[in-house]
Amino acid sequence: MSDPVELLREIPTDTQTTMEMLEKNPEDVYAKLRKTTPIVRLQALAGKVVFTKAEDTSRLKTDVEHFGSFDTETPMQRAFGGHTLMRKDGCPHLRERSAMEPALVFGQIQQWKPAFENLTDQLLNKLEARSTADLFHAFAVPLSAGYLKLVLGLDEVAENHLFEWASLLVRGAMNSNFDPAIFALSDHANTEMDACFDRMIAQKMISPDGSILSIMANENTPLAISQIRTNMKICIGGAVLETRDALLSTIYGLLSHPDQLRHCVSPNGWRSCCEEGLRWIAPIQASPRVVKKSLIMRGVLIPEGETVMAVQASANYDEDLWENPGTFDIHRTPRRHQTFGEGAHQCLGGSVYRLLAADVALPKLFERFPALSLAQDTHVSVRGFAFRGPTSLHVELV
Ligand code: HEM
Repeated sequence: MSDPVELLREIPTDTQTTMEMLEKNPEDVYAKLRKTTPIVRLQALAGKVVFTKAEDTSRLKTDVEHFGSFDTETPMQRAFGGHTLMRKDGCPHLRERSAMEPALVFGQIQQWKPAFENLTDQLLNKLEARSTADLFHAFAVPLSAGYLKLVLGLDEVAENHLFEWASLLVRGAMNSNFDPAIFALSDHANTEMDACFDRMIAQKMISPDGSILSIMANENTPLAISQIRTNMKICIGGAVLETRDALLSTIYGLLSHPDQLRHCVSPNGWRSCCEEGLRWIAPIQASPRVVKKSLIMRGVLIPEGETVMAVQASANYDEDLWENPGTFDIHRTPRRHQTFGEGAHQCLGGSVYRLLAADVALPKLFERFPALSLAQDTHVSVRGFAFRGPTSLHVELV
């Protein structure tokens, strides 16, 4: 009998996949990897190891003995002016998460529903006068900025600022060459954000309003201001672009399968539609982890210290769980997708996104424009590896 150690394989390396393939057609890349090398080092991602099977991505997020989030080498720390809760483990992570969580639990977020309805109505009123529109700029961008300003407690911030800050934070977090010019841009955004948080904290201490900033600032023993600031930034960098992209992908899914529209009005129909949109195109395709302790998975040795990526977008297409995964289909048997992650770092914003999308924005949009359709001869381009969504969505409104 051969010694089991002899059967151990090193992590294979993929040299065929290019960044362009990951940005353009990641679904095809993931399908191939799931079949051939589900754990693989991708040269295109500077040698990072990716995990593409749902069972494995789930393990990366939940097996805290072997995988952690604390990473001293990530450019994210430099770009955000400190470590956010997303890159902490154990008690420090729990402490910071529990400072923010009360603002995002189901009961608390219901207070925002009338304001979300109002905001959506105002945007739809503006569309009434038109026969065509690009829903990217005319709907998803202002809605995403508008609801997050309320939920975050940044009511004085202009929409373009929120998007600019989010983009610069993301650029800085992905600045793996530590290019000083890119950090100069994120530093500038940090200075603006910090000043804005300080002004808003002073207001929220006088008039608390249940927003994330208000709840963190008014805790009995609040976190240090540096931690409040970095965790506000993770909500900006991790929610503004993603909400926009998730909304657009879902509307695109529905418009390209109009037969499914009539089922949306059935009980829980909009919820199913919202979940399918989240599964179909995950706005954040992958999340990193660091290996805390060497282990063997699928006969491959995963060494301590390695940076690994859980590709949740691939998990959402895993044939072991999903039939015809590339098809947008709101009739699927309810099953958990991995778009919001899972385990200790599961997204805190899932409920508030669902409240906006499934309970307000999608039903209101399709009620107001029952004949909504994709513009003729339009090609919807869905782009991006780290962050993914339609780059425009031209529609006919009547
Ligand atoms: C469709 C929109 C969104 C998507 C796709 C999304 C996705 C994610 C994912 C995948 C993670 C886990 C990352 C990991 O495992 O390392 C995460 C974490 C997080 N998200 Fe979201 N998110 C969305 C909206 C929001 C919103 C609206 C908020 C807040 C208002 C938010 C706040 C957070 C926070 C604070 C974390 C870190 C949690 C922790 O580390 O304990 N997200 N998000």
